[in-house]
Amino acid sequence: MPKPRTKTPDIASLVLDWYDRHYRKLPWRSPPGTPPPEPYGVWLSEIMLQQTTVPAVMPYFAKFLTLWPSVHDLAAAPVEDVMEAWAGLGYYARARNLHKCAQVVSRTLDGRFPDSEEGLLKLPGIGAYTAAAVAAIAFDRPAAVLDGNIERVLSRVFAVETPLPQSKPALRGLAATVTPQQRPGDFAQAMMDLGATVCTPKSPDCLLCPLQAQCAAFSRGIAAELPRKAAKTARPVRHAIAFLLQRAEDGAVLLRRRPPKGLLGGMLEVPSTPWRDTPWLPGEALPHAPLALDWLPLNGDAAHVFTHFELKIAALLGRVDARMAAGLDGLWQQPQAAALPTVMKKMLGLLPAAEADEIRSTKSRRAGRARS
Ligand code: ADE
Repeated sequence: MPKPRTKTPDIASLVLDWYDRHYRKLPWRSPPGTPPPEPYGVWLSEIMLQQTTVPAVMPYFAKFLTLWPSVHDLAAAPVEDVMEAWAGLGYYARARNLHKCAQVVSRTLDGRFPDSEEGLLKLPGIGAYTAAAVAAIAFDRPAAVLDGNIERVLSRVFAVETPLPQSKPALRGLAATVTPQQRPGDFAQAMMDLGATVCTPKSPDCLLCPLQAQCAAFSRGIAAELPRKAAKTARPVRHAIAFLLQRAEDGAVLLRRRPPKGLLGGMLEVPSTPWRDTPWLPGEALPHAPLALDWLPLNGDAAHVFTHFELKIAALLGRVDARMAAGLDGLWQQPQAAALPTVMKKMLGLLPAAEADEIRSTKSRRAGRARS
């Protein structure tokens, strides 16, 4: 009898076998081959993981599930509480849409997430990527999931030489071709893990890769060069002067709430000049201050990179007593305690250490007097 020819294993089986042995244990996952996790946690994690790393997401995911264990709890929360819990994670429109989406699911869908990509796509804040990821991971639908990690793996396995983002439609087609009917949720997460731990951007560990024999880029010796990327245009620089206004008695700083729409919409901010293309001279900045005062220019500056521009920040320091402070619009919070976007934390980071020391010693002097 002729020996049966061994079938070349397909990409999905190789990746799934590898995942069974090497999957990352993450709090929003169920182990390979077991029933899918709750859609609420899958959706929450996928929104948080957009443009954000796994380690950065971990504490936020735990905090959200503690504060709001179900989609009904999240929907019932005041949006300000959700924004505050999100502070530091970036891309704040995600938090606002997260809350809106929770309200739709809780109030019109009886707390049940749609189980198809089409249904999920109708919800606030859910785009093509998230719809596919939730459909695959929470409902085991054979949706073609394509995130940055999966783009890299596919670009290499199929030696896609067209640079990103032009290659995206081709990569979407390849993702659909390799997605299996069996265990599509595990497959999507396996591809993410392969991209995150083996098929890494700079020095891929091809010797450990389950797809080495299938990988066209490996066989041509160009794995580390792919995916090619279209030349980036330089990020424009904007400039701001932050007004760090401290209350003399306790060191609290003046903060304001930003308008609900636009960049950092609805988050707390440190008052500042407008963010403009040319640097500010201190005299030009003063008309934008929260009040007329002897503002002291601070040494040092800070910078923060947003998606579309970089912000360079200088700061002026002012101090008021509690009576003057009470007359100003905004809220007063301790600089370390405030739930703020990272750019605002950087502004407060320009407060000189001496100020903090002085405040601490004034407090302890007062505490000492109170005790004696
Ligand atoms: N990045 C986006 N979604 C992810 C997931 N489910 N697991 C790990 N990394 C991810």
